[in-house]
Amino acid sequence: MAANRCAGGRVAARYRTIPSDGEDPLKGLILSGGLGTRLRPITHTSAKQLVPIANKPILFYGLEAMVAAGVTDIGLIVGETEEEIRAAVGDGGRWKAKVTYIRQAAPLGLAHAVKIAEPFIGRENFVMYLGDNLVRDGITSFVRRFEQSKPDSMILLAHVPQPELFGVAELLDGQVVRLEEKPEQPKSDLVLVGVYLFTPMIFDAVKAITPSERGELEITDAIQWLLDHDANVEPHVIDGWWKDTGRLEDMLEANRFVLDTMEASCAGRVDESSKLVGKVIVEAGAEICNSTIRGPAIIGERSQIVNSYIGPFTSIYHGCEIRNSELEHSIVLENSKILDVSTKIEDSLIGKEVVIRRTEELPKALRFMLGDRSEVQLT
Ligand code: DAU
Repeated sequence: MAANRCAGGRVAARYRTIPSDGEDPLKGLILSGGLGTRLRPITHTSAKQLVPIANKPILFYGLEAMVAAGVTDIGLIVGETEEEIRAAVGDGGRWKAKVTYIRQAAPLGLAHAVKIAEPFIGRENFVMYLGDNLVRDGITSFVRRFEQSKPDSMILLAHVPQPELFGVAELLDGQVVRLEEKPEQPKSDLVLVGVYLFTPMIFDAVKAITPSERGELEITDAIQWLLDHDANVEPHVIDGWWKDTGRLEDMLEANRFVLDTMEASCAGRVDESSKLVGKVIVEAGAEICNSTIRGPAIIGERSQIVNSYIGPFTSIYHGCEIRNSELEHSIVLENSKILDVSTKIEDSLIGKEVVIRRTEELPKALRFMLGDRSEVQLT
């Protein structure tokens, strides 16, 4: 075993619980709790993992990636938004997976989520996936590599321009020597992607560490604990596209990226005076009247687009109504209405059942009913 020795390191075997023999398929753990503070007000009422990217909840991409890798016995960590997530995911049968819900009383950190998942995972190896992450090429190749090389843990890393927003890894001769969660002065631009492979040794680590300054049990500290105890933590730098969709701009970028990979299709109604240009997906029951849709874009089930322009990289979810308006590079959630707004709307995330409309009412004024932490930019 190529051990990662650090000062004070001890022999890993002394601490290790018995790893599974690697014959059984791995178990899966998807983290879908947390508060989604960076996406408020959307996440005041909804789970951030259910915001749709190209009209599919982000969480579903993770579930699909797990199942594609042969991981079908999946624990789903949920918090306050449990009910909403249960309604969307059910028992996992839709993906031919078996989903077990694990309630986390409060978002006390990723390592805390691992700790409470121990009764579900037992003595198995497992893959953990953060429910707000999107990994373009899926996780199958990493899972296979982990099964073959049998390290104590495998972490995925990616080069990013703003490493201080993530867990940062320091490598020496291809070995991980140090991990730090959101350091002010990152030692490298290599950050932890939200996919981790673990043996049950991680349970020793999550029990040994203490909360960070922000009051969370950090998975980064737990993996550092593994390193400090001579465990073999294998790094794997990914070259494909990956996104943590925690912030609005990341969400829009993920939407752009996924829309661009989709094929045009039309299961709705498009009248003769409308124009679909490029990759446009019109879902069942959607109606496009006297409008131009320039793809890549998706118009969700039962949505109506009338006398409007929908520009590239826009996702309109189910049951929306867009009338006499222009919209581009945006995501609109279900049952929202944008009516008679002549100024183009762009770079926006519009929540569920939102109404934006022009009125002739006097006095001429802007009138709002906005949730906490909403942001409106006027020109
Ligand atoms: O996306 C990669 C980054 O994810 C890593 O680089 C960081 O090292 C890692 O700490 C994590 O950072 P974030 O600050 O982005 O984690 P976040 O709080 O957004 O939580 C990630 C997912 O886990 C999200 O779907 C919510 C869920 N979660 C989070 C916490 C804190 C839980 O289910 N329970 C929790 O207690």
